Formats: sequence, structure tokens, C-alpha cells
Amino acid sequence: QLINRIPVTHESLTTEPLSSQDSITVLFGSKSGNSKKVAKNLHDKLIARGFTAVLQDMNQYQGARLKDEKWLLVIVSTHGEGDPPPAAEDLHAFINNRKAPQLKDTRFAVLALGDKSYASYCQTGRDFDSRLGTLQATRLLDRVEADVDFEETAEVWTDAVLSKLQETFGTSTDKAASNGHPSVNGTIPAAKPAVQYTRKNPFKATVLEKIKLNGRGSAKETYHLELSLEESGLSYQPGDTVGLWVENEASFVEGLIRFKKWDAAATIVFKDTPYTLTDFFKQKAELTTISGSFLTAYLPYINDPADAHALKNILNDKQSLSSFVYGRDVWDILQQFPANISADQLANIVLQLQPRLYSISSSFQAHPDEVHITVSRVEYETNRRKHRGVASNFISDRLEIGTQVPVFIETNESFRLPENGDTGVIMVGPGTGIAPFRAFVEERAETSASGNTWLFFGDQHFTTDFLYQTEWQRFLKQGALTRMNTAFSRDGKEKLYVQHRMQQHAAELYEWIQGGSHFYVCGDAKRMAKDVKQTLINIVSEQGRLSQEEATEYVKQLVKTGRYQEDVY
Ligand code: 2AM
Repeated sequence: QLINRIPVTHESLTTEPLSSQDSITVLFGSKSGNSKKVAKNLHDKLIARGFTAVLQDMNQYQGARLKDEKWLLVIVSTHGEGDPPPAAEDLHAFINNRKAPQLKDTRFAVLALGDKSYASYCQTGRDFDSRLGTLQATRLLDRVEADVDFEETAEVWTDAVLSKLQETFGTSTDKAASNGHPSVNGTIPAAKPAVQYTRKNPFKATVLEKIKLNGRGSAKETYHLELSLEESGLSYQPGDTVGLWVENEASFVEGLIRFKKWDAAATIVFKDTPYTLTDFFKQKAELTTISGSFLTAYLPYINDPADAHALKNILNDKQSLSSFVYGRDVWDILQQFPANISADQLANIVLQLQPRLYSISSSFQAHPDEVHITVSRVEYETNRRKHRGVASNFISDRLEIGTQVPVFIETNESFRLPENGDTGVIMVGPGTGIAPFRAFVEERAETSASGNTWLFFGDQHFTTDFLYQTEWQRFLKQGALTRMNTAFSRDGKEKLYVQHRMQQHAAELYEWIQGGSHFYVCGDAKRMAKDVKQTLINIVSEQGRLSQEEATEYVKQLVKTGRYQEDVY
């Protein structure tokens, strides 16, 4: 019986066509495009080795098809505190439904992508893995989990999947390769640049320009930063992000060490390299944000059992955990839950300092060999102590023209201009949410795209906070920007937000959407993006005379078809 499934090399393909049951489905659920990237690479390799394989986005996958899958390779990321990414929501719900079909004939493997700084690390991948198992599908390989620097793990998993399939199907690439088929094993790129800069091997970019965008008297401090990518070989698309490796502030680290009465000059060995306590906490430790996994590791050190109990309760509830970690740093935890913990012990349980990602605000075509970002200083007071965002303050205070910062590019396939330049775009980006839209409009100007563009921008005050004002005026004049509406929230008696402007132009907005325009939102995820989405649903409901449910479904379809895209944080 197995014999029927086995002939999968190119050689046999020509003599004996495969039946559909031999096809392997590579199914991905992506948010920022990482799962997609891994899936695509695996799919390419499968094809190169003579397998029949299809690459499938969960977004466009009907759960009912699962029962026909013989070979299913799932790559899925986790979103926020353990939720599936929007693209995977429906399928996740489908398999978790009591009525989900039994999958006795399916063999599967799961690669879960995640972020270790969240307690619910890789939760969605875990769900898929365990649920597929419960539905009686057979595990080809144990689940593999990959942290933010997923590349290496993904590669190992991909290779393991390939060998497992080859073993199961009884083919060998060597045999296939010796047949001289051109696409077999043709995975070595023709010309690889000498160095490839990545998250782990970042490029030292020089600061070319730094401009404060807010006027005097503004409550905000937003910087426009231009970095050189010259001789890096790096490039990017509008919608992509740039990662910056930064350090914690000396005064913060020193304050924390003093608070715990530790010896700042003591040595800590981390990955075989000795650091002074100060340097370790500056360069390696994630101190300005906390996560469930850090808190869990901190629990046993807490002095007072009542404190420990209280923290346990917080950890046991997703909702209270996410509101608890918001705005708190490691120092807050040391204060709030006094503990008998040494510097070494803390160093062991804090997470490793991660690079910060910024939505790129330039078009590479418009600014070859440069990358621009738009950064607002994050600073607030809680627990009678100033809390300052690690990257925004590093950038604001320490990056001057001529200095360098290690950077890398991270692609974001889920935030992309329409492929066709004739397609209209509606962009909603208050505050620094404006960043990717500067890249979008520059790109559209550069490529002389003929589609309409409509930008909604908002900030506190017209006179001090109109970011890139003169550039928008120029684009409006040139036609790269068709129209722009602004909402300055604190200029009038009542708060005025971008979604109020959307509502005021509801009829035209609906017309644009009906005409096929794509809709983009960038900026605050907690409230703004939710309010904007709800406003669009209301507009669709009023203008299209649909019920709230129908209008919600309408917008859901926009999301599914890639016509509603978010870059929110
Ligand atoms: P506010 O600070 O005056 O409330 C960029 O930060 C802009 O987004 C500011 O004008 C801010 O207004 C505004 N903003 C705050 N909350 C918002 C929300 N829920 N929806 C849209 N804009 C919001």
C-alpha cells in the first residue's frame, strides 16, 4: 500500500503521475511574515526534492479540507498573550470545535514560532499540535518551538521534516540529484554576498540625520532619524521594519544596583564572557519590560508568602497578567515583591535584552542605501520613579549624527502596498503611526503609481505636532497624495480623533472601499486600532445598509483578503 505513495522523485513523476493523496500541504499562519517565510522555504525545498507540495495560507484555508490531508506541515506563530494570529483564528477555532473531524489519515508536524518573553510562549503552535493529535492525526515529528531568533531552529526543523519525509517516502535526494535534474537540490544561491547582516549579525549603521519633528512647547518629543545602509547589501520594502540593538541607560542600571545594594563591579559570566554587573545589566538584560515567564521565575525568591500568592493569582489570569505587566519594569517588581535574590540569580532569570523594531518611514527607492525611522520618546512616572522606554530614550539621547547603531531588517509581508499601483489606498496613522505611510507615499511617488491615496493623521496640536507637514503638502501638490485629513486632538474643546474624521467622510470612504481600495492602520494597538476598526464597521453598516454582524463580516473579509492590514504595537 505504501508503494503507491512512494514514487515522488522527479524521475518517477514523469512516468507515474502522483495522485492528489501524495501531496504535502505546507500550512502557515503568519502575522509579520516569519511563518510564511519558513513555510515558503520548506515548500521550495520540497519541490526541489521532487515532492508534490502546496503552500497554503491559513487565512485562505477551509477547515473542512483537513480531513483530506495526508501530509500536513504546520508553521504558526503566536500573537500577544497566547492568541492565534488573525490569519490563523478561524482554523484555530475550527480544530478546537467539538465537531472537528477525525484525522486518522493525516500525518503532521508543527513548528511553533513565539516570543519567550511571553508566558504563553508558542501557545498557538502547541494548540495545533495537541489538537491534531487529539483528532487522531499521526505525528511525523515532535513539535518544535522557536523563539524570536527563529531562523536556526526553523532550519533544523525544515531539515528534520525533509529527512523524515524522505525516509517515509523512501526516496533519496542523492539519487534524485544524480539524475541531474536541474531543480533537485538546487538550493545553493548563485552568488551570496560576502556578509549577510541579520538580527544576530547586525550592520553598524551610521546616523546621517536627526531632526526633532515637534515644535517648541509640545508635550511630545518625536525624532526623524536617517541611517546609512551603505555597503551593507541591506534593502527593504515599504511596510518592513528595522531592528535596533540598544542598551539600557546607565543611570537606571546603577540605580537598580544601588537599590539592591549589590556590588556594581562584581563579575558576571554570561555565555562564557565576563561582564561587570553594570555592563551585564546595560547590555544583556531586559529590564524595562517584564513578562509572565520572568515573573514565574521570580516567584520562588519572594520573601512574603502573601506576596507570592498575590503574584500567583495574577499569573493565573491572562487578562490580569496583561494589565499588570503594562508599564511595569524589573525594578518595580523588586520593589513591590521584596525578595532575597542575588545579582547572579536575577541575571539568571531576566530575559535577554531584545532589539527594538521600528516601522520604516522611508522608501528604499526614494532614498537608496538609507533607512529612516520616526521615534517618539517614551517616558512616564509610576511608583514615584521615571520610567523610560529603552530604545526611544537611547535614540533620543545617545544617537547623534555620526554615531553608529547595530541594525537589521525584518520583513513584514502582512503590511504591503497593493501589488497593482492603480489600486487605491486609505492610510490611518496617528502619532508615530504615520511612519510606514511616509514610506508608502514616497514609494508611490517614486513609481508614479496612479492609484488614489488618502491619509488620515492625528496628533495633539496642529502647530507643534504635525509630523512631516511640509512633505505632505508637497505630495498633495504633486498628486502622490490624493487627500489628507487631520485630527488634532487637543486643539478644540472636545477630543478629535482620526476615526471622527473617518466618520465625517463616511460616504466617500465607503465608496473608496467598495471601489477596491486597501485600508491600512498603524500605531497604538490598545485603543486606537480597535476604535478605527469599529468605526469602519459602523461606516460599512450605515453606508452599505448592513446589520452590525454583516458589516463585521464584511470587514473580516477585507482582513482575509489582505485588504485591511494593521501594523500596530
Ligand atoms: P490624545 O493624546 O489627545 O488623547 C497620537 O498620539 C494621537 O492619537 C493623539 O492626538 C492622541 O490623542 C490620539 N489618540 C489617543 N487615543 C486615541 C484613540 N483611541 N483613537 C484615535 N486616536 C487616539
